[in-house]
This record gives sequence, C-alpha cells and structure tokens, in this order.
Amino acid sequence: MSVLTGKELRIVGFLCNWCSYGGADTAGVARATQPTDLRIIRVPCSGRVNPLFPLKALLSGADGVLVSGCHPRDCHYSAGNFYARRRLELLKEFLPIVGIDPARFHYTWVSASEGPRWKQVVTAFTDRIHKLGPAPKFQDAVPSYDMPDLAPVAPLRNLSCGANPALEDLKKQLKEALSDDHLFCVVGWQKSFDGLHATPLHMRKPEDVDKLIWGPFNVHSTANMIPQLVNDAKAAAMVGVKRGDPIPPAKKIGVVVKGCDGKWLVELLQEKLIDRDAVEIFAMGCNGTVSYDRIIAKIGAGKRIDSVEGNGDTLRVVADGQEYSLSMKDVAQDKCRACTVPNAPVYDHFAGDPVKVSEDAKPEAAAILAYLDGLTLEQRMSFWRGAIERCIRCHACRNACPMCVCREYCVADSREPHWVTQEDTPVNKLFFQLIHALHLAGRCTGCGECNRACPMGVPVGALKLHAARIVRALFDGYQPGTKLEAVPPFLGYEVEEKNIPEHQIEGA
Ligand code: FES
Repeated sequence: MSVLTGKELRIVGFLCNWCSYGGADTAGVARATQPTDLRIIRVPCSGRVNPLFPLKALLSGADGVLVSGCHPRDCHYSAGNFYARRRLELLKEFLPIVGIDPARFHYTWVSASEGPRWKQVVTAFTDRIHKLGPAPKFQDAVPSYDMPDLAPVAPLRNLSCGANPALEDLKKQLKEALSDDHLFCVVGWQKSFDGLHATPLHMRKPEDVDKLIWGPFNVHSTANMIPQLVNDAKAAAMVGVKRGDPIPPAKKIGVVVKGCDGKWLVELLQEKLIDRDAVEIFAMGCNGTVSYDRIIAKIGAGKRIDSVEGNGDTLRVVADGQEYSLSMKDVAQDKCRACTVPNAPVYDHFAGDPVKVSEDAKPEAAAILAYLDGLTLEQRMSFWRGAIERCIRCHACRNACPMCVCREYCVADSREPHWVTQEDTPVNKLFFQLIHALHLAGRCTGCGECNRACPMGVPVGALKLHAARIVRALFDGYQPGTKLEAVPPFLGYEVEEKNIPEHQIEGA
C-alpha cells in the first residue's frame, strides 16, 4: 500500500533550523506531495541532537526516527554536524543490542534549497518504516532471561594470586613520600572483614602504610575517590585563609593503582576533571583480581571465611573449617582475562617490574556479547526485558562507575529535563541503563564495576562493552584510558570520517 494512502505510523524527525527545516519548508512551499507520518522537532543544529533524543523517541513508541542537518562543511555553526555524525553513527550501531532494528533510525543531510531532495528522503524513509511495520514495544516483549552459563574467555597472560615481592618497595616509596608532608593522603587497599575482601585505605602518616595490601582482592577502584579528595585537599588548604590573602597551594593526593585504576586516572585527566599536578601516582604491575561471585559459586554462599592464602595460581580458602583449593584461572574477573593494560599508563613511581602482555594479544569478545550476537532482535529485546525486570533502581552501577562523574546532576534524578521518571517500569529502567551506556561511550575503560556492584546480577556491563566495541571499530581501535594525549572520539571529529559511511536511503 502506498505510504500516502496507508495508515500513518509515528515517525519523529529532528531537523536543523538552518538547512533541513528550510528544505522541508521549501518542499512545502512548492506543494510537493509528501507522506504525513513525520512529526518534526526543529533544533538549532544537528549537533544539538543528543543521541538520547532519538533513543527516547524509539523507546516511547516512535516507529522510526529521522535526523537531518546541513551537509558536511555547511553547518551554520561550522562543525555541529561533524560532531553529530559520530554520535548518531554510534547510536545506529548501538540500537541492535537491545533489539531495536537500526533501520528504524536514519540520519542524513538536506540543505534549505533541496526541497525535492527533502521530499525524496521523507518519502523513502516513511516507505521503509511502513515496510517494517509498527515497532515492537519494549514493554510488550515477552521477558526471557534464561542466560546460559557462559564460559569465560581464555586469559591473555598468567594470572596469579601469590604475594608480590615488589610490595615492600612500594611501601618504602609511600613512606618516603608521606614523610615530607606534601601529600594530603594516599589511597590504597587494606584487608576488610574477611580475607576475601579489601576496603579503601587512606594513608596519612608513614605508619599507615603498613596496612596496605596488594593482590587479587584489590578489586574496587581507587580512582573514583580522587576527584572528591582533590576538592577536600583544596578545602583543607583554605582553612584559616582570610579574605584577600593569596590562595595557598593544596597538597597532592596520592593514589596506588593497578592498570585499570591507571586507565581511569587517564580518563579523569583527559577530561580535565583532575589536574595532573594534583595527584601523585604509585603503580605496580597487576596479576589479576578475583570475582567474588565465582569464588562463592565454588565454596557455597553464607560460609564464614577462616583464612585465605594465595600461592602462584592457587588460592587456598578455608571456609567453615573446610579447605578449598581454587585456581586463579577459574575465579579471575572477566576484565582481567581480557586485560592488555596490567600496568598503569601514567605514573610517578613504579614498584617492581611491569607485567608483560604479548603485543599482539587480542582479547576475544566477552562471552556475554558473543551470546547476545547470536540472538535475533526479538530475542534480544526479550532478554533485556527479562534482565531489566530484576533492576531495583538502586543506582549502585552508577555509583561504582569511576567515569560516571556528574552524579549530583545525573539525568536519572533530574526533573528538568525530566528524562526518566521514578516509575518502576521496564522502559524507565532500561532507558536509565542506555543513558549510562551512551554517556560512557568512548570513555568506559571496561572495568566491569557496574556489573560487580549490581546486587541483582543484571548484566548492564554488556551495554557498555557493546558501545566500546563500536568505538573501537569506528575509531581505529581507540581504547579509552590508554593514552593521555589522545582526544576522546566524541570530543573531536574528522571532516572525512574513514570508518563512517555516508548512509544512503533507498530511493533518495
Ligand atoms: Fe545545520 Fe549545524 S546548523 S547542522
């Protein structure tokens, strides 16, 4: 049936004021016959189109979304459409992971004089949406969360849980640094309530350094405390300062880092969320960290941990008087298996020898991504519908994320704009996770802290891994957190993008 005579579907169009809105107007003034399914939202520039706009429209019931701006090099603000192109391409590639057909989203360029081209674009896109039919609604998908036991990928290097002989060197470096009073504190890890857990350690005096531990239980991030501690140090420096006095320099924050903590620091430095001068970085090569879930799966839940001892590849755990011998290969975190950066990329002090990973080591796709790739769009939607039902909106995933830095202004809590409601609905819960994943695109270092923090076992990290995979493919293998001098991909653009095709729509 012709799109001009069939039942209307819901298509949302975001058109830049200066070109495409003018192009649509030109087509209208010329009385060009067009389908009437499109509902236009005028925006100042395609660069204003946050990928969350089309995403929200698609999750709220739109059958298709079209974004159109000025042709490359013609943007009224010179580069808005170059930035938009990168973000919109990411969105297009991202949609299938949650079961949304990427053909329902299209972005293109139409100038104000191109009335006939506008007519072609809108007719062809409407035609495409009519062929696809009404979009499946996420809330109506049949929940199906029967994820099989996924075999973890093979580690890229030897993982070990034995004592690191360089720990004494590290402690010596820390004691020396703390004895000359230029550090506000140094953040590291100390033993927690049992031998399987570590908790943050704030070292202020040389004697505090004796509590420092290093090993497979140093799981949580030290980096996500740094921005707040930098502010604390600045506030402490201002104590007693009178109006008109010069502002005294703040003390530095010391931080002990593994490779992944080092990547977070690089991201925080790249985004200018902390100054390089404000931190002193103490690094040591990492031999891998453990997954508590895997240990509990081996020894059983609810046991009292009597003792834990690591030796080479073997972790000996005595729980409720019974001894368990666990191989690091079996209980290591997935991120450690795929890790190619066991040493912090940036540091001031390094203890011991760096851990080596073969230069041509290429991590396999995470098991969860391989599993999702094997599902149809419909099955993926059902998977996420089932998975997200478990979410209790505790925001532990957000709070554990070292790169989730706008906590006080988080869109999850914002009432203006009101992106997500407090309703306990699958769409709201999924939308929050998609916002998180898209905000982290090009920034997420793949630490898996969101997965680890989730008390309900929702595999939200898969969304970020998928976004990271797209970023690697679009931007020549870009890996966040590995190069301090690199420009994060969504903060820049190329006039000719090597890996972003000019999408043509059939018939236009
Ligand atoms: Fe049209 Fe920037 S003004 S895309």
